[in-house]
Amino acid sequence: MIPVADLGEVPPGRKLGRRVAGTRILLVNAGSGIHAYEDRCRHRDVPLCDGKLEQGVLTCPAHEWRYDADTGCAIERPGVRLRRFPVRIEAARILVDIGGSR
Ligand code: FES
Repeated sequence: MIPVADLGEVPPGRKLGRRVAGTRILLVNAGSGIHAYEDRCRHRDVPLCDGKLEQGVLTCPAHEWRYDADTGCAIERPGVRLRRFPVRIEAARILVDIGGSR
């Protein structure tokens, strides 16, 4: 697990892009907790940190594919899902296991 950000940097309704060990990570807090995804749209690898997060939906800035922020699943494309990393909160730090994607 690698520290990626402080908990206070990702309050409810916010997202944050970070690069850790060569991997682009998107931290998302849609209200139900912090999730970590690879920061690449499944369409053409555009960073989703530049997109919108509204009412639990992440929208890619390029062609507006939409993802459920709590699951990483593409809303209009069954079977398409963002790569997700395990997250742990420890002493107000967000830790991510970039080797443990699922
Ligand atoms: S790159 Fe995200 S929708 Fe096309």
